[in-house]
Amino acid sequence: MNETILSVQGLQHKYGEVKAVDNISFDVKKGEIFSFLGPNGAGKTTTINILTTLLPIQSGKATISNFDLTKQKSDVRKSIGIVFQNETLDFGLTVWESLEFHGRIYSLSKEKRRSRIDELLKVVELYEKRKELVKNLSGGMKRRLEIARGLLTRPKLLFLDEPTIGLDIQTRMKIWNYIKKVNREGVTIFLTTHYMDEADRLSDSIYIIDKGKIIANGTSESLKNSLGKDMIYLETKNDKKTTSILKKMKEIKDVKSSSKGLVISLKTEATQFMPKLIEKIKNEEIEAININIKKPTLDDVFIHYTGRGLRDENKEQNQMSSMMKMMGMGGGGH
Ligand SMILES: Nc1ncnc2c1ncn2[C@@H]1O[C@H](COP(=O)(O)OP(=O)(O)O)[C@@H](O)[C@H]1O
Ligand SMILES: [Mg+2]
Repeated sequence: MNETILSVQGLQHKYGEVKAVDNISFDVKKGEIFSFLGPNGAGKTTTINILTTLLPIQSGKATISNFDLTKQKSDVRKSIGIVFQNETLDFGLTVWESLEFHGRIYSLSKEKRRSRIDELLKVVELYEKRKELVKNLSGGMKRRLEIARGLLTRPKLLFLDEPTIGLDIQTRMKIWNYIKKVNREGVTIFLTTHYMDEADRLSDSIYIIDKGKIIANGTSESLKNSLGKDMIYLETKNDKKTTSILKKMKEIKDVKSSSKGLVISLKTEATQFMPKLIEKIKNEEIEAININIKKPTLDDVFIHYTGRGLRDENKEQNQMSSMMKMMGMGGGGH
């Protein structure tokens, strides 16, 4: 896995004054599943659009299989496949026809078309719908068809822009397994996602992107390990005062404030440290609302660098207020 298939140096992209991609550099190794993890608006789709030659390079340099993205566009295009974030299906065709048509464009043999289309329609659970017109499918079904189409050919490098957005967990897991299968057959995968579980499960290599900049990179393990051992989430009525008290404790590696309260990373095991922390909270008269222990996740990595969570804030607020209700903590959340 040492050969580089995609190389990006100093890539930038502006829409007017908005810097959507701000000087990013990275290499994707042949054979890996590479993920771009970041919230909405981070610059993921813009990056994919540049790397698939849909947007011109404004500044920086990129090569795919050693072909230059500005000078050798058609060679680049022959090496790649793409599943877009937005719908690009032809609504006038049936499910089966749209795959058949795509297979022909890419000169797949009749036998390959037949076996792969059957196989893929079963994976994305559209086999029963194969004679249905695309325009009659639900949103989730269209998404699944789009994924099937992207996986039909076996490009050297396949770009997947938020492949499982909005799908239920069973379908997502099936698609993850299929992505892994395609990857084992030799297709390098470049995936963007704002789901940390997706990046966590699939990726050999993760780059976390926020506001056009890469803020961290590594394997899922190395990123999580970089935060230390267990984490403690502590919600208080006075984060500032609490932070300065906690930062003096020798067991504590770091304290960050986030939308979910204080995130405390530790040098020691959380279960051993908890009694001491509770003692401290009592002695210093800290007004604690909620306290939780958990293993670091990629979301914690994101919070560590940005002070914000990766997931949709609204959704999180709802979850939080229903949790508070369940715990009899009122809050009258709306
Ligand atoms: N066509 C466009 N015109 C102007 N601004 C855009 C356009 N596309 C994206 N942007 C802006 O660029 C930033 C990055 O967007 P995008 O690449 O779509 O992020 P992501 O895919 O990570 O959600 C955002 O601030 C977005 O509003
Ligand atoms: Mg996007």
